[in-house]
Amino acid sequence: MCGIVGYVGHRPASDLLLDGLSRLEYRGYDSAGIAVVEDREIAVRKRRGRVAGLIELIESHPVEGSIGIGHTRWATHGDPSDVNSHPHLDESGRVVLVHNGVIENHDRLKARLSETGCGFRSSTDTEVVAQLIGWHLEQFIESGHAADDPETCWSALRATLDELEGTYGLGVLFRDCPGHLWAARCGSPLVIGVGEQEYFLASDTSPLIGYTRDVVYLDDHDTARLGRDEIEVRHRDVGTRDVAVQTIQDEAVDVELGEFPHYMLKEIYEQPDSIRSAMRGRMDGDDATAVFGGLNADAGELRRIDRIVLTACGTSWHAGLVGEYLIEEFARIPTEVEYASELRYRNAPLTDTTMVFAITQSGETADTLAAVRECRRKGHKTLAICNTVGSTIAREADGGIYLHAGPEIGVASTKAFTSQVTVLALLALYLGRMRHMSFRAGEAFLESLEAMPELVARTLECHDAVREVARRFADCGNFLYLGRQYNFPVALEGALKLKEISYIHAEGYPAAEMKHGPIALVDERTPSVFVTPRGGVYEKVVSNLEEIKARGGPVIAIAGPDDERIAGLVDEVIPVPDVPEFLQPLVTSIPLQLLAYEVALLRGCDVDRPRNLAKSVTVE
Ligand code: M6R
Repeated sequence: MCGIVGYVGHRPASDLLLDGLSRLEYRGYDSAGIAVVEDREIAVRKRRGRVAGLIELIESHPVEGSIGIGHTRWATHGDPSDVNSHPHLDESGRVVLVHNGVIENHDRLKARLSETGCGFRSSTDTEVVAQLIGWHLEQFIESGHAADDPETCWSALRATLDELEGTYGLGVLFRDCPGHLWAARCGSPLVIGVGEQEYFLASDTSPLIGYTRDVVYLDDHDTARLGRDEIEVRHRDVGTRDVAVQTIQDEAVDVELGEFPHYMLKEIYEQPDSIRSAMRGRMDGDDATAVFGGLNADAGELRRIDRIVLTACGTSWHAGLVGEYLIEEFARIPTEVEYASELRYRNAPLTDTTMVFAITQSGETADTLAAVRECRRKGHKTLAICNTVGSTIAREADGGIYLHAGPEIGVASTKAFTSQVTVLALLALYLGRMRHMSFRAGEAFLESLEAMPELVARTLECHDAVREVARRFADCGNFLYLGRQYNFPVALEGALKLKEISYIHAEGYPAAEMKHGPIALVDERTPSVFVTPRGGVYEKVVSNLEEIKARGGPVIAIAGPDDERIAGLVDEVIPVPDVPEFLQPLVTSIPLQLLAYEVALLRGCDVDRPRNLAKSVTVE
């Protein structure tokens, strides 16, 4: 949450900072700001609201200089206001910084600094960091250190970081040391872009696209100093460390909207391709199995596994639940999906033969990262199923599988879900084929999977039908989403999509559980969305559906093509192609994504930037 950018080089910093902030806006959009240093003067421009508002402000009040920092905020401490916007200055005006993370001991530090006479302007935890660096800087200067010596700045920064509890990614400028930009990381991601006589700083690689592909990832407890021609990285315990420059691959490139009005819609429509990419190079027809390059686990180790824990948050957790069903059905390995925020604190009894997979689109989700660290600390092999190459979880896990879905910018996750399900299906096949699954069954599995991109493309043809349904029900205040077996996680996911982008209350349930309580909610203004394609539990779901109809509740059904029986029972049908049950989530999730999208549009909601949310949840 919150996006940070920085620049030092030979070009006008404000242009680059604003461009970078526009690309990072999905991380938070409560406010935006930049600071630029020129001739030992710090110029700050910031304001509540979107980056577009900041751009207007800078058009009327431009800033000059080729070194600067910028920030787009998702508010944690202090309301979204101009004064709480980043960058924050210290009282002396010598230090300015941007921050992503949470400073847990900010109250104590603020009280101590206030006793020394320090006056605070904002109610943020971040200003405490700026003031504390300023205070340490003052001490160093008073004891004879030169304000324009980079070592003095390092020392003030280090002394401050040693006092902080919590998480931070920081970009810092010192007025009296104007050729340098500092960065510090603990728990919030930062990446440095390496250009020709210029360096970039960012929360992730998206602002670097088009400027450089060469990057340096900072690790926790790293601080970095960037000058136009130089970079130095110091680690808390070891001092200056080697800087490993990596080259990012093409897949980070497509972040343009193209012909689509919203990223969410673009990403929904990308799913035939993103599912294809998740399968590319991973289907082994000769042995009727899957292949994975980066698992870092040999066949013997994988055969010894007798339990799998999948851990994740939000949509990735829903994909994990599909994974649980897939792995148990095809590999017969007991599997549980755990909320990362629960797993990390509950001291689950994992054994040497338990394998943990963290599922995450961003690779930066704080709870998932903490669960990964906790499992690894206890010696359990922990692998990642992740979309974002070079993200913290991808780098810290013992190995893993990339989704190759391309950047997902819409806050509501769509293509990541179907790519996660695809990868989990391949994993189930791989683990199954190492155990009892026959060659023939493996072949049939692969054949079904291979057909999915085309079937998903056909599923998208339901968009017009979905629009009609949205028009009819967009003003309802509650929705139920119901499905069984593989479509139970889909019901959960459909409800989450509707909640997060249209702000309508929605509940996802296993269809049969509805009689154990939620059915009390049913009335003529509460639609139930039944996910009921043909399959083993079809009859059971139809009975549940009739129970709702009998009580006067409107029913929308996601059903197989030409399902006259369902059509005769329900208020609206959205058809999806017939596919094998274990792959149904790949098609049944699509109309639910579209439904959430269309309802949100009709209600005038900001689809790509829903209120109170951010794309990467990097706080606990
Ligand atoms: O990046 P991750 O997959 O770790 O993110 C997990 C959740 O924060 C995320 O799926 C969230 O629930 C989405 N906004 C749902 O659309």
